[in-house]
Amino acid sequence: MPKAYLKVGEVALRSGLPISTLHFYERQGLIASDRNAANHRVFRREVLRRVSIIKVAQSVGLPLAEIASALGDLPKGATPSTEDWSRIAESWYGDLTRRIELLTALRDKMAMCIGCGCLSVKRCPLVNEDDHLAEEGPGARLL
Ligand code: FES
Repeated sequence: MPKAYLKVGEVALRSGLPISTLHFYERQGLIASDRNAANHRVFRREVLRRVSIIKVAQSVGLPLAEIASALGDLPKGATPSTEDWSRIAESWYGDLTRRIELLTALRDKMAMCIGCGCLSVKRCPLVNEDDHLAEEGPGARLL
């Protein structure tokens, strides 16, 4: 049976994150530790799931503040339930869908246009004849 509590070094080893990152997450309120009888910092085993979600969410560009806000809704001092995780998944669904669409468009359009430069009216997805996209506002309007 796995241990219920892990030392910070064990969390680092298992998660692949430096101890300094775990301390940073703790200072930011993303994870929380307890103290054992020897007054050493220990983490409930479920911290591994939180850390995994933090890592993946960061890797797809979710701001740390948004991640902290979502994780802040999880119960304190208890292992989150399936329903708790589902609430977070639902709250991120729209944002993640938008990011997936943006990344897909960026991947496909960049692959086609970088190094090409033709801006062909017939085939280029980035064509912007007479800069008509300026009417929609600043920034990359096609992505
Ligand atoms: S620049 Fe050639 S296809 Fe976009």
